[in-house]
Amino acid sequence: MKGFISGLPKVELHLHIEGTLEPEMLFTIAQKNGVTLPFESIAALRDAYQFNDLQSFLDLYYWGAKVLRTEQDFYDLTFAYLERCHDEHVMHTEIFFDPQSHMQNGVAFATVLNGIDRALQEGKAQWGISSGLILCFLRHLSEASAIETLRQALPYKEKIIAVGLDSSEIGHPPEKFVQVFAMAREAGWPTVAHAGEEGPSENIWRALEDLQVSRIDHGVRCSDDSALVETLRQRYVPLTVCPLSNVKLQVFDDLSQHNIMQLVEQGLCITINSDDPAYLGGYMTANMLAVAETFDVSKAEMARFTERAITASFLPEEEKDVLR
Ligand code: HPA
Ligand code: ZN
Repeated sequence: MKGFISGLPKVELHLHIEGTLEPEMLFTIAQKNGVTLPFESIAALRDAYQFNDLQSFLDLYYWGAKVLRTEQDFYDLTFAYLERCHDEHVMHTEIFFDPQSHMQNGVAFATVLNGIDRALQEGKAQWGISSGLILCFLRHLSEASAIETLRQALPYKEKIIAVGLDSSEIGHPPEKFVQVFAMAREAGWPTVAHAGEEGPSENIWRALEDLQVSRIDHGVRCSDDSALVETLRQRYVPLTVCPLSNVKLQVFDDLSQHNIMQLVEQGLCITINSDDPAYLGGYMTANMLAVAETFDVSKAEMARFTERAITASFLPEEEKDVLR
C-alpha cells in the first residue's frame, strides 16, 4: 500500500500556504529578517506543536507567519511546498492564503501575492504542477476588514480562483460574512468556507445557504444532522477533509474514530487533504496512507479520492479531463 499511495497521482484542495512553513525555514527566514523568536532551537519549536484545539494551533500559526516579510520569503515558502508536491505526485493544488495576517504585519498585499504567484508559475514550468490561489478571510476579524481585503484583491482578479473563510470557527459563524461573500460572487469568484470543523453542523447549512459556497472545508460535523448529510449527498457538495489535522486538533480522539469512510459510504464527495502539513502531521501522502491503513481501504477506493478531488476542483472541465 505504501508504494501504491506514494505513486498515486494526487490533487490537493485544502492547503494553507502559511501552514507549510517548516521549523527550519521559519528559523532561517526569522534570522534573515531580524525577527526574534521565543524558541531557542528548531527542536524546541517542534516540541511546541502540541495542540488541544483549533485556537491553540492558530496562535502558533499566526506567530509563525510573522517571520514572512519579503516577496522572496513568500516565493521560497511556496516553492518548497511545490517541491514536496512534485515528490508526492500532486498534479494540481488549490492553495489558501491569508493576506490579512500579513497586512497586519505591515506586508503589502502585492508582496504576498506576487511571491506566491511567481513560485506557482515556476512549479508549472518545471514540473507541470497546475494550481490555483484561494484568498481566505480571517473570520475572527470584522466583515469590514474582509471587504477592504476584497477591494485590494480586485486588481489581481486573474491570479485568484476563489474566495474562502478560515480561522477561529467558534463565535464567528458564516453569516457574519454574508455581504463580502455576495460581493466576491458578484466579482465572479466561486466561494468556499471552513465549516463544521470544530463548530456546529449549523455552520455548514449557513455556509451553503447564506454564503452559497461551492465546497465545504472540513465539514466533518455534518454527521450530527442527517438532513444535512442527505443534502450534501444529493447536491454532491465536496468536503475537503483533513484527517491528520483533525486528529492533531482533537476534532477526533484518534484516526480510527474519524468519520471519513462513513461519509464516503454515505455517497458524499469526500476528498483527502493536508491543511497545515508543517504543523499538523504531514503532507498528502501521509494523510492518504494513514486513512488507507487505519480503515483497510482498497487501492481502487484510494484512487477514487483523487478522482473525486479532480471533480471537486475549480479547474475547467477540459483540464479535469486531462488529469483523469
Ligand atoms: N481551520 C481554520 N483556520 C485555519 C486552519 C483550519 O484548519 N488552518 C489554517 N487556518
Ligand atoms: Zn484549513
